[in-house]
Amino acid sequence: MANILIPYYSAYGHIYEMAQSVAEGAKRVDGTEVKIVKIEEFDAVKEAMSGQEAYVQAQNVQDAVETATHDHLRWADGIIWGIPTRYGSMPAQMKQFLDSAGGLWASGELEGKVTSIFTSTGSVHGGQETTIITSLVPLLHFGLLYVGLPYSENPEQLTKEGIGGTPYGASTLAGPDGSATPDQRDLTMAGRLGARVAKIAGKLSS
Ligand SMILES: Cc1cc2nc3c(=O)[nH]c(=O)nc-3n(C[C@H](O)[C@H](O)[C@H](O)COP(=O)(O)O)c2cc1C
Repeated sequence: MANILIPYYSAYGHIYEMAQSVAEGAKRVDGTEVKIVKIEEFDAVKEAMSGQEAYVQAQNVQDAVETATHDHLRWADGIIWGIPTRYGSMPAQMKQFLDSAGGLWASGELEGKVTSIFTSTGSVHGGQETTIITSLVPLLHFGLLYVGLPYSENPEQLTKEGIGGTPYGASTLAGPDGSATPDQRDLTMAGRLGARVAKIAGKLSS
């Protein structure tokens, strides 16, 4: 029995699509309850991107998704973060949410919960690993226990093709102009990541 939270930020919808697969994977584990919540957008970004059709459409699709709160983090036994790359690291929206959670850091309420990350980049070498590894740093300050994506369960990673999948977490590619959609192998690995975190969270919380 575990509660799995998937807090994500997605400007153009790739991370949102990956979040659905992560959720499906987590739900495959008996007794798991899953919640997908979005990290609040900045007003300045909404305004700056209001003329971009792809951004506006992707935001409309996510309209009904609940906004992430600290109580969601308290509810969760496992937290799987959806974090697209911004200059090789996490978007400011995600950092702002983590920075606002100082009370949870002080109380130690997140310590011992299981966590992982999935990411997305525009280009193959645009920073999937750096985004995951640098995002891991604040998560460790909260006392979260990090779970990766092992090769044995994810043989698709052993490729020189331009797809996602890293031992550090699941990932996908949006393409330089954002027009690519997640490869089926990326979605499959995202699902396995969800299942892995749900299984471990279930064991730790029982
Ligand atoms: C401000 C900004 C910075 C970005 N920096 C990078 C980068 O360093 N490397 C890269 O490959 N893609 C970069 N991208 C592309 C995004 O990572 C890509 O749009 C995102 O992964 C798509 O996910 P989403 O559809 O969920 O928003 C950047 C995009 C923006 C808007």
